[in-house]
Amino acid sequence: MDHYGLIGHPVSHSFSQRYFTEKFEREGIHARYDLYDLPDCSALTALIADRPELRGLNVTIPHKQAVLPLLQGLDETARTVGAVNTISIRDGALTGHNTDVEGFRAMLEPLLDGERPRALVLGSGGASRAVAFVLRSLGIKFRIVSRDRDRGDLTYDLVDPIVLKVCPLIINTTPLGQHPLIDVAPRLPYEALTPKHLLIDLVYNPERTLFLKLGNERGAHTCNGLAMLHAQAEAAWRIWNS
Ligand SMILES: NC(=O)c1ccc[n+]([C@@H]2O[C@H](COP(=O)([O-])OP(=O)(O)OC[C@H]3O[C@@H](n4cnc5c(N)ncnc54)[C@H](OP(=O)(O)O)[C@@H]3O)[C@@H](O)[C@H]2O)c1
Repeated sequence: MDHYGLIGHPVSHSFSQRYFTEKFEREGIHARYDLYDLPDCSALTALIADRPELRGLNVTIPHKQAVLPLLQGLDETARTVGAVNTISIRDGALTGHNTDVEGFRAMLEPLLDGERPRALVLGSGGASRAVAFVLRSLGIKFRIVSRDRDRGDLTYDLVDPIVLKVCPLIINTTPLGQHPLIDVAPRLPYEALTPKHLLIDLVYNPERTLFLKLGNERGAHTCNGLAMLHAQAEAAWRIWNS
């Protein structure tokens, strides 16, 4: 039986095990999917040696970048983004991929309806890099908002109503608002939002974060990260079986 799994720390809250286990049952696939809680990413090498049945892994926080030196290869997207969320395993050799890119693109394109609005990307971590890659590839101009002046184009104190007016697309790639910290949202002048704005949250748990709720209250269009989550998981499955 082929084995798949997720590495990260912590992993217990993960959606992936349920998603793949249900998929295997539904589609009659003889495989299993396990969670591997690795506080230290370097334990990956021993995990691969111990489990020759492993065909593929998903990678989550905090290992999406730390895993890079442990891989024998990287596909072009993962190399450009500089982060890996999927590993394929062939004859003990590990290749890194980034399906957050495909997942985000699959979610974004239908929402844009052919338009190319200026965007603000909140946060500068691994998911932000995948989002930036997609925005660049679609020709969308954007600015990164970070708590740290050196990691982004703007800090939150510089995001005023005028910045929001010129950026109708706002994408939250921070974990703010994610369960259990559901009462927090990125610091923005929400009163400046209008029905012309589209707010996208990569967080999907809860389905409506405070960020999206504050947008809805101003009439903005909103979308959570569920569609991206499903699309990135299916993209990983296609890679493992290609
Ligand atoms: N829907 C999906 O399929 C999907 C896929 C990937 C990720 N996600 C979600 O996206 C979120 C980010 O994931 P990630 O892998 O990019 O994590 P990450 O690498 O840790 O990056 C998160 C970024 O958010 C910002 N941030 C962190 N704590 C913050 C705080 N207290 N206040 C303000 N900003 C803060 C930081 O940017 P600055 O230091 O620049 O402020 C940080 O780099 C997670 O909630 C994850 O579950 C969803």
